[in-house]
Amino acid sequence: ASAQIGVTGLAVMGRNLARNFARNGYTVAVHNRTAAKTRALVEEFGHEGEFVGAETAEDFVAALERPRRLVVMVKAGEPTDAVIKEFAPLLEPGDMIVDGGNAHFADTRRRERELREQGIHFVGTGVSGGEEGALNGPSIMPGGSKESYEALGPMLEKISAKAADGSPCTAHIGPDGAGHFVKMVHNGIEYADMQLIAEAYQLLRDVAGYSPAEIADIFRTWNTGRLDSYLIEITAEVLAHVDAATGEPFVDVVQDQAEQKGTGRWTVQIALDLGVPVSGIAEAVFARAVSGHKDLRDASRGLAGPKAQPLGKEEASAFADQVEQALYASKIVSYTQGFHEIAAGSDAYDWNVDLGQVASIWRGGCIIRAAFLDRIRAAYDARADLPSLLADEGFAREIGEAQDDWRAVLVAATLQGVPAPGFAAALAYYDALRADRLPAALTQGQRDYFGAHTYRRTDREGSFHTLWGGDRSEVGA
Ligand code: 6PG
Repeated sequence: ASAQIGVTGLAVMGRNLARNFARNGYTVAVHNRTAAKTRALVEEFGHEGEFVGAETAEDFVAALERPRRLVVMVKAGEPTDAVIKEFAPLLEPGDMIVDGGNAHFADTRRRERELREQGIHFVGTGVSGGEEGALNGPSIMPGGSKESYEALGPMLEKISAKAADGSPCTAHIGPDGAGHFVKMVHNGIEYADMQLIAEAYQLLRDVAGYSPAEIADIFRTWNTGRLDSYLIEITAEVLAHVDAATGEPFVDVVQDQAEQKGTGRWTVQIALDLGVPVSGIAEAVFARAVSGHKDLRDASRGLAGPKAQPLGKEEASAFADQVEQALYASKIVSYTQGFHEIAAGSDAYDWNVDLGQVASIWRGGCIIRAAFLDRIRAAYDARADLPSLLADEGFAREIGEAQDDWRAVLVAATLQGVPAPGFAAALAYYDALRADRLPAALTQGQRDYFGAHTYRRTDREGSFHTLWGGDRSEVGA
């Protein structure tokens, strides 16, 4: 037994993670269901570090020093359970199984519980950064026991991305499913970021009249400011790309139907269960759904509406500045909503997640990495019990400064018939939170009218019901 860590499942994410461990000086046992992949990895990348190729599960387990650290990089769901079933009987108390896939946190909770009975630490771990991140430094979000982090943490810290200040983009998130929950919300925020950027693009194209190449330049400029982020950067690259076959902008030859593997949808499903308003993230998921309903869209093409009239040059440039404000303000809202969901999950499952730390380890390696996350970390550093990011003075000021332009962009979008559901949902959330009174009072009245569901009063304690079908006097409930 000579390997400090083992990786089973050698598709591109597993392979790159194994190479990352090896490049950082660890001896890595590698294993795959079909042994050809194991051999190919060792042949191709053996020069990068120490690999022990194992053809059978038994050889793989035997290659690992104790306590064993076994990283599973297979498809979430059924394949993960199959791998656990195969390896768990070969392991001993104190050993660790690390699931680095995009598992649903409820599955992770179940697996952790089952394996705990056997004395095995199950470490559900979010890994973000795609193929490139897995190889050169991902953001890593491990859940599971504290004890397991003591044995794994130093290795994860070594292979993870480093933030600009040099700190590793990994930390113990919390017990059982906490790591996968936080990764799930990361992906929900990722969906929202992508949708907001997409809306900005469409407004710049249809309302301002810019070409994809011009919009790429605008995004490049934005990327030097407060919107500096990986997603803005790659958006500029995608928009500037020209299709070799047709000579057309790449973005014009791709079918406009967005797909998804499901983590964004989970974020919204769980938010519904927890009662957390993640409207920005939900609109991002729904926007993908709308785009995918080709029949519905085809059947609706003739519906009445304005045709967007591109602006003149100067107006277009002023409008682009307003879109930057709208994008930034909406981004503040989607992160506010995402962090609210993490806080609610942490409360519901007793995870004690450190929100500032989450922001900190998202600063590098992951898909949503952005200068912005430093600000979020600072907000939680200043006040660990911050009830909402919007309660942070700095964010409150910035969103306040952006709101006029934000509204103007939505007016233009509405009048020109360009859908901007992410911007709109974010603004509605902002306005709802700042409102003195919400029409929820009327909703309560309606509920009491048809269902005697009762209401509370502004001026007295207790629950009340009005005898709507009788003399309309009020009774205590
Ligand atoms: C990451 C990504 C990664 C993956 C998503 C894409 O953090 O590295 O989020 O997990 O690319 O699953 O999700 P969709 O296919 O649902 O867009």
